[in-house]
Amino acid sequence: MCGIIGYIGKNKALPILIDGLKKLEYRGYDSSGIALQINNSITLIKSKGKIKELEQKIFNNIDNEKNKWQATSGIAHTRWATHGKPNEANAHPHLDCAKKIYVVHNGIIENYQELKEHLISKKHIFTSDTDTEVIAHLIEENYKDDLKESLEKMLKLIKGAYGLAVIHSDEPNKILAVRHGSPLIIGIGNNETIIASDIAGIVNHTKKVIYLNDKEIAEITNNGTKIFNFENKEIKKNIEEIEWDIEKAQKQGFPNFMLKEIFEQPEAIVNTMRGRITDDNNIKLGGLDNIIDKLKNIEKIIFVGCGTASNAASIGEYMIEEYAGIPVDVDDASEFRYREQPIDKKTCVIAISQSGETADTLAAIRKSKEKNVLTLSIVNTVGSTIARETDAGIYNHIGPEISVASTKAFISQITILVLLTIFLGRQRKMTISTAKEIVQELTELPQKIKKILELNNEIKTIAKKYYKANNFAFLGRKYNSPIAFEGALKLKELSYIHAEGFLAGYPKHGPIAMIDKNFPSVFIAPCDSVYEKILSNIEEFKSRDGKIIAIANIGDKKIQKTSDDIIYIPKTLEMLSPILSIIPLQLFAYHIAILRELNVDQPRNLAKSVTVE
Ligand code: M6R
Repeated sequence: MCGIIGYIGKNKALPILIDGLKKLEYRGYDSSGIALQINNSITLIKSKGKIKELEQKIFNNIDNEKNKWQATSGIAHTRWATHGKPNEANAHPHLDCAKKIYVVHNGIIENYQELKEHLISKKHIFTSDTDTEVIAHLIEENYKDDLKESLEKMLKLIKGAYGLAVIHSDEPNKILAVRHGSPLIIGIGNNETIIASDIAGIVNHTKKVIYLNDKEIAEITNNGTKIFNFENKEIKKNIEEIEWDIEKAQKQGFPNFMLKEIFEQPEAIVNTMRGRITDDNNIKLGGLDNIIDKLKNIEKIIFVGCGTASNAASIGEYMIEEYAGIPVDVDDASEFRYREQPIDKKTCVIAISQSGETADTLAAIRKSKEKNVLTLSIVNTVGSTIARETDAGIYNHIGPEISVASTKAFISQITILVLLTIFLGRQRKMTISTAKEIVQELTELPQKIKKILELNNEIKTIAKKYYKANNFAFLGRKYNSPIAFEGALKLKELSYIHAEGFLAGYPKHGPIAMIDKNFPSVFIAPCDSVYEKILSNIEEFKSRDGKIIAIANIGDKKIQKTSDDIIYIPKTLEMLSPILSIIPLQLFAYHIAILRELNVDQPRNLAKSVTVE
């Protein structure tokens, strides 16, 4: 949520900061701003809207006082509004009264209202509606001649979660960065240092990074970086090497990241499985090596996650209960963190998160750790906070997912859950022949997904029939009930159409009252153990004049009687069917959004990484 980028080095900071903002734009994109510093002068430029609007504004100004654009240090921010409307006044950086202190901030200052009232009583003048601005004024209030000292005093006064970068016009070539609940990474380049709220902002320049931990302050100057804790004690940190490849983050000929990521899914499964299946069909998960014995003894699993990650977890629930015989709960992380739930010591809490930074999921893990239970993570972003704070974990290894709507991460999360199911199952009662059958089918899925991707134009034609509808229902049973929720989530976040996911047996208890000829429904109906049941549910909708789009298996003739449109997908094992059935729904949502002329990579009101609760 929001993106921070900062630069100190020998090169011009402006193009580096603009490029960094573009890489981070997926985190938030309703306004942006840059502060550039040369000696004791700081130039501020802010704009409502996307980075390209900021860029245009800079371009329009570039002939004025050319010198100021030559700065070799600065900080910048792309915003996802929490406090105050998305407008120029609320865009970061925010300033103190004397216009000497410039602050960019991710997260939320929970006690900003009382701090603001106090500062106003001391004659500070506020120019925005944000919580962030109190930080600049509090530093001003405490500043004598040392930015770090005044920043430390300010930190004692604020409550909440934050990642900060701060500069002061009296202390050129210095950026102070603070992490407390919102990620910040420092890229160590050749005579240059870049700070960013995620790796995407850094990987273009260097692969050497320092991950700041909570309650750490980085002092970055031309002479290097020093890290301190909140007690002003210097800390020695390791420089780590990151794996991400910038090539992987480019569109590679696709019109947008979302379509590219949908089409990358066969490869995503291969990458997720790579090196994890042994010749004798057992599963090797390197990240779990140290806790193999602990896993043998667990008697319950609780998955925590949000949005798409939580839908993946629900599929894991069906798999692990059926094949490993371990009871599983799935809790939305935002509820888990506040519930008073008795948790037995033999429980393992597993966080699923693409970004590894989702605030609620992280809080759920921290709460679990307080209860001394084993915590695991399934995370895509190497070195992210959730990955680092869990006892053990499994990485997706699918490269960055840029589009806000999660697609390839979802497929990869389910793939990991299949591997985990076999792993846990083999520790218990699963036979090697069952493991072999699942592995065999799993390895065939990339080819089967490719077959579904070939239906892209056909799905687009179906989307053309329905894209003006105002409501959609998505329905599935058993393994495909989470796919109904995920299909509806994809359609709403991309197209802003009201869409609801239902367990297919549920609508007759109320929601079917909504169904008429203007309310289309998508039924996920592969030939599995609940096929006959879902056929009856389709009949119920058909007899109320509902329009039916069915996701069915190739060769299924029965479904033709009741469906208006059918998307045929290959057959696989029931437990693996969600990996195939979600693909047409991703494409369906994608085409509806494109037909409605919407931005699929950055839907309105959203951000890729939700680091506020
Ligand atoms: O980074 P995470 O996987 O923790 O993110 C969780 C959700 O915010 C995310 O899956 C969200 O629901 C997606 N935008 C859905 O496409």
